[in-house]
Amino acid sequence: MNLILLGLPGAGKGTQAQILAEQIGLIHISTGDMFRDAASAGTELGRRAQQYMNKGELVPDEVTIAMLLERIAQPDANPGIMLDGFPRTIQQAEELDHSLSERNSLIDAVLYIEVPEEQLMGRLTGRWTCPTCSAIYHEITNPPKITGQCDNEGAKLTQRADDQRETVKARLDTNRAWTERLAEYYEADAKLYPIDGTGDPEAITKRLMAAIETVPVQASGA
Ligand code: AP5
Ligand code: MG
Repeated sequence: MNLILLGLPGAGKGTQAQILAEQIGLIHISTGDMFRDAASAGTELGRRAQQYMNKGELVPDEVTIAMLLERIAQPDANPGIMLDGFPRTIQQAEELDHSLSERNSLIDAVLYIEVPEEQLMGRLTGRWTCPTCSAIYHEITNPPKITGQCDNEGAKLTQRADDQRETVKARLDTNRAWTERLAEYYEADAKLYPIDGTGDPEAITKRLMAAIETVPVQASGA
């Protein structure tokens, strides 16, 4: 099964993808995490991506698409993928469809996590993440057991550079229209599953799982 989690910044894509991918046995692929890993490693790709991320803009399609297609061609993606943060433009969606179809595969469903925008700023400015395992916390709604430390391996938690208030505004402005257009793109193919993304994360996981159970499975994997 190949799934996409679609939603504005802070909708809960990463939080839910980490839970669902494990429950269903899919590989979680986040293009944002890939760019941040590349930036931490100081690669040319990372340096280039960082310039766009710091401004809340999209990394250009030619860079993003090449990176993603290379990732899903790895053997560990064979059982199926859960994409988080990709696609973000129609060109990305079309090239993804094309690449999968060359391997007799396709996207089975797009889970569109919808959250009113006024809730997103608080979610993002209070987020802390683990640089080692990418675990996601929130200082109020999902705090770690020990302040500032990851529950999994005790690493020091960090805040994302793009979670500053001004950058969050820019990210929302960048993503709003694209997210709508992508929802329309997948709706036209009867693959869009809108999910209420408000309430506690466990309730949202249940809604997502209930929707996934109704998806007619056509793809065997990426
Ligand atoms: P990316 O890393 O994908 O960021 P994003 O889309 O802005 O989304 P976020 O990761 O901020 O939010 P999320 O939906 O994952 O929410 P989370 O679960 O963490 O991309 C970053 C940048 O990389 C982009 O701006 C762009 O520059 C570049 N990029 C990436 N992909 C690209 C692409 N395809 N093309 C071009 N450029 C690309 O949750 C957020 C917070 O809310 C957490 O603190 C969490 O604990 C909390 N929370 C989660 N669920 C709930 C809940 N139900 N109730 C209360 N709080 C909750
Ligand atoms: Mg994320």
